[in-house]
Amino acid sequence: MAEKKSGPVIELKGVKKVYQMGEVQVQALKGVDLAINKGEFVAIIGHSGSGKSTLLNMVGSLDLPSSGRIWLNGVDIATLSESELAQTRGRTVGYIFQFFNLMSTLNALENVMLPLMFQGVPYGERKERAEKILKRLGMEDRMDHHPNELSGGEQQRVAIARALVVDPDVLLADEPTGNLDYKTGLEIIKLLKELHEEEKKTIIIVTHERFIAQQAKRIVQLQDGQVLSDGKASGVNFNHIKEK
Ligand SMILES: Nc1ncnc2c1ncn2[C@@H]1O[C@H](COP(=O)(O)OP(=O)(O)O)[C@@H](O)[C@H]1O
Ligand SMILES: [Mg+2]
Repeated sequence: MAEKKSGPVIELKGVKKVYQMGEVQVQALKGVDLAINKGEFVAIIGHSGSGKSTLLNMVGSLDLPSSGRIWLNGVDIATLSESELAQTRGRTVGYIFQFFNLMSTLNALENVMLPLMFQGVPYGERKERAEKILKRLGMEDRMDHHPNELSGGEQQRVAIARALVVDPDVLLADEPTGNLDYKTGLEIIKLLKELHEEEKKTIIIVTHERFIAQQAKRIVQLQDGQVLSDGKASGVNFNHIKEK
């Protein structure tokens, strides 16, 4: 197994990401340093195309950098085999998407049970843990509903439950309210805040909405693939960010 160092739950050093588009190279990240400690609530903001989703994908090891180094819980991911990385990622990171990405053929309960199946958790325990987390998120009356029988806000709650059920160290969310109306978006961000405060979850949320970013304690602002600012939420100039 790879050597472990203590410190941040996720750390990036000099991370670059280049996408090859035919003859054209797109430099989506141009050397990013970022350290996320346990228990932080961080918002990543920036214009469309500034590299927010690419950065979140690097943070969650959904994709690998072109160069630079990434540590998950102190383990340099470059030292892991593909299956070791998949295992580590599965335990460390829960991912929430803008368009929920639920399985349409499975009901809410089955959707939430699914990640535990990949971890080899027995059926009874899968069901118990999925029911518990759905109840925690106020979805006890919707467990046998399929995604098309749920509202957008309810679908996102199921997606959050699916991300949480493996008890990950970090919850990553890419524009989780981007497909919801203002009121529902506010409910979802309140829920994430609650999970952060009551259950000490580490949360990293990508958003371009001011009312969402203002809930975070730390804001990382990206511009053109680089970190423009990184600090306390109170010090950020929100002028370019959409107000709903
Ligand atoms: N899979 C991809 N292939 C080619 N270019 C991509 C890909 N994903 C993103 N890009 C480009 O990388 C840049 C950053 O994209 P992205 O990280 O999605 O930005 P954001 O989430 O801030 O809108 C953009 O110029 C985008 O067009
Ligand atoms: Mg994006």
